[in-house]
Amino acid sequence: MRNTTDVVNAPPTLFVNAAQTITCAGPARARRGGEMRDADVRAGVGVAVQGDRITAVDTDDALRQRFPEASEIDCDRGLLAPGFVDSHTHAIFGKARYEEQELRATGVPYLEIARRGGGIHSSVRDLRARSDAELFALAVPRLARLAAGGVTTVEIKSGYGLSYADELRTLRVIARLSDALPQRIVATCLAAHEIPFERRELADGRTSWIREIIDTLYPAVADEQLATFADVFCEPGVFTLAETRELVNGAARAGLKAKLHADELHDGGGAALGASLRVMSVDHLAAISPVGIAALAASDTVATLLPATMLFLGTGRQAPARALIDAGAAVALATDFNPGTSPLQSYPLVMTLAISELRMSAAEAWIAATVNGAAALDLAGETGQLAVGFSADIAVHSVDDFRALPYWFGERLCRVAWARGNACHPGL
Ligand code: NIG
Ligand code: FE
Repeated sequence: MRNTTDVVNAPPTLFVNAAQTITCAGPARARRGGEMRDADVRAGVGVAVQGDRITAVDTDDALRQRFPEASEIDCDRGLLAPGFVDSHTHAIFGKARYEEQELRATGVPYLEIARRGGGIHSSVRDLRARSDAELFALAVPRLARLAAGGVTTVEIKSGYGLSYADELRTLRVIARLSDALPQRIVATCLAAHEIPFERRELADGRTSWIREIIDTLYPAVADEQLATFADVFCEPGVFTLAETRELVNGAARAGLKAKLHADELHDGGGAALGASLRVMSVDHLAAISPVGIAALAASDTVATLLPATMLFLGTGRQAPARALIDAGAAVALATDFNPGTSPLQSYPLVMTLAISELRMSAAEAWIAATVNGAAALDLAGETGQLAVGFSADIAVHSVDDFRALPYWFGERLCRVAWARGNACHPGL
């Protein structure tokens, strides 16, 4: 955080003339169960920004009185809101994978495509053949499209390198994007996305990759400060519970926090394992069991749901958001943006799916998209709220009601987005 004197001396900018303001203000931690119902929706309220911080949230009149010298951003009777936190993406990849959508439509399951060497492996072959400059250039417009939907914080995973060198180089591309772009970018090492295809036939292929990740890659990632988190695809047929536990413990020894892909397609007990290991979030959960739900409800681990993935995979199934929230869990929402299972760069569409498919209320979807997304990245004290002291991560949408954004689905309604006090839409 910037020094307080710098912030107070910075010239103020006021966001004023909003029809409605949704602050999501409240405790700086994940909101769970019934707490997700209150997103603090107000009328006639604006926000003052100085430097990279929100320094006041008050009526327009009070803000103008307190900051007579301020410049103004006219919300034009739109909706003033915290920027979205997209806490789960795989935005660094090369080509699209059109053929797999049709293959699944003919009945070939996602994991069978990977078994045949497609799926994740096809993105790995492609990424390895591309230069860092190409990967960087491909990511920039993708992140601009996310920002254009109001996303001001985005998590990006590696995981299409699957070798020591290609995982590190992916994470270095993410670090360069983080330096170059206005959005806040959080990096995650997903070396445990799959067993590299070239090691499949080797007797010690699995164990040698897991050992290399734990003994060599995680320490190198931590040493170069290339990632905050390590992630594991914990799923029957990919990484087992025992392997996941070993990887999470190895990550912790290197100084990396953990997240899991868990119980996406089959219930493998990943959510309960994540809760017992106190990982920051367990993500997907379309196949979570009642035991997993109870474990999450009794833990501080955030349940991150990715409804666009289930829609795109055509499974006809969705994560039990209602059961999770009603049991008292903290639910977040993310795009899962990736070339295989969710080529989606519109965060507002995820909110539509949260209401229409996951049966969440609009207020719950907003809390999941802001405060709880931030909590899934261990940033609940920094972003996700329009509240004094929080990062100036702000979006203005051309709607006059917070329920209108998920309602008018498929439209481009975000007019302005600021991250850390800088414009990220328009303006990239
Ligand atoms: O979150 N499930 C694993 N990983 C990604 C998909 C990766 C891919 O198919 O390229 C996901 O859905
Ligand atoms: Fe994912």
